[in-house]
Amino acid sequence: MSRSISIRGGAPLKGEIALAGAKNAVPKEMVAALLTEQACQLQNVPAIEDVDIMKRILGLLDARVESNDKKQLTLRASKLSLPSSRKLLEFSGKSRIPILLCGPLLARIGRAIIPQLGGCDIGPRPIDFHLKALKQLGAEVQEKQDAYYLSAPKGLHGARIRLDYPSVGATEQVLLAGVLAEGLTEIDNAAIEPEIIDLIALLQKMGAIISVNTERVIRIRGVKKLAGYHHSPIPDRLEAASWACAAASTDGHIFVRGAKQLDMMTFLNKYRRVGGEFNVTDEGIEFFKGTNPLTSISLETDVHPGFMTDWQPPFVTLLTQAVGVSIIHETVYESRFGYVEALNAMGAKIQLYNECLGEKECRFAQRNYHHSAAIIGPTPLTGTKIAIPDLRAGFSYIIAGLTAQGKTQIDNYGLLDRGYENFTEKLENLGAQITE
Ligand code: EPU
Repeated sequence: MSRSISIRGGAPLKGEIALAGAKNAVPKEMVAALLTEQACQLQNVPAIEDVDIMKRILGLLDARVESNDKKQLTLRASKLSLPSSRKLLEFSGKSRIPILLCGPLLARIGRAIIPQLGGCDIGPRPIDFHLKALKQLGAEVQEKQDAYYLSAPKGLHGARIRLDYPSVGATEQVLLAGVLAEGLTEIDNAAIEPEIIDLIALLQKMGAIISVNTERVIRIRGVKKLAGYHHSPIPDRLEAASWACAAASTDGHIFVRGAKQLDMMTFLNKYRRVGGEFNVTDEGIEFFKGTNPLTSISLETDVHPGFMTDWQPPFVTLLTQAVGVSIIHETVYESRFGYVEALNAMGAKIQLYNECLGEKECRFAQRNYHHSAAIIGPTPLTGTKIAIPDLRAGFSYIIAGLTAQGKTQIDNYGLLDRGYENFTEKLENLGAQITE
């Protein structure tokens, strides 16, 4: 059932929150456990829906899955088997992670069934790069209406794969398929997000041989067998950035325990340029608004080391409180500004454009996508009733509600469970005035 939350705006958020392992790393690292018969252990695993879905899918594949109250997750796939497609299809449309099961399943049992994918509705999100790469590695793919059916009658073998765009998921796909493939696999134009480097580090612990070279080239030398791992995933830098925006928007102070400067340098530069401040310590980063008013900025989202697309919605909400005209050019997803209509209904002044309002023409130039935005600020926001369309937009609506005068009712609140652990509790501990 769809849940709602009501926020009375105006209270500065003050206090501390602790990050768990990254939503965009942990579920993939769970998939890596299928590459070995040995036990694998992940620490600091977040209690979020994406992890829960993968626990259930791994269980269906006959892997042993055990979690304890210390946030440790132990996985052991001594044997693997495919359940009936009916059981797997219960997960259709629920997550994007299952596509990454292809490599481990093909390597270990020669077959895979992948239900239709889910995930946030922020563009068409095709998987053509994944399927093309898998075929190059020796997989045969049949796409039916209900699912993808794959087999590798001659096993997986190394190949030279060039991605048309440095896709995070497709890079992970090739990593997870290439580590047990015969011979050398090369990914040209690979994504190099910190979550990917973390996955590579984990695979190296398992015995994989992977080098990250200059110019976005990753080389994987296939091995015959992999061992178990013990791993602490990188903390969630997307959640950290969202709390940073909440701190500056509400004129509060939030210490984000576990936040890592190195994974967030691009964000921290932009945050400081608009008037946010931070203190970096060994334990985490403290975020707050500087003494001067917030000021406008122009920026483009991009693949790492650029400004992450997932940082964009909370940052735009922050910019509604900045003096001047800010320009944002979204170059990763074609439809990631659907959420601004609700912000405008609250009093924001955000205008969308089809044109590339940035330094470069992106893949969406000359096409009918509203992928640039001009934000005129500062605009006081007023509480109203809005509904969350996707995960990251969800956090930005929470920030809008915290900043607004009066009460904001936010429907579809349950969507935040996909990616943020104990969210209501964290808000309450920081002093937000909320009722669920
Ligand atoms: N793309 C294709 N074909 C493909 C794959 C991707 O055209 O086969 C395009 C996409 O449509 C998109 C671009 O390439 O325009 C980038 O997509 P990418 O594959 O990098 O994204 P993803 O792996 O599906 C992950 C995160 C997203 C994050 C992106 C970019 C997970 C589960 N999801 O998605 O996170 O925005 O990388 O960094 O890791 C979120 O956490 O809210 C979220 C959406």
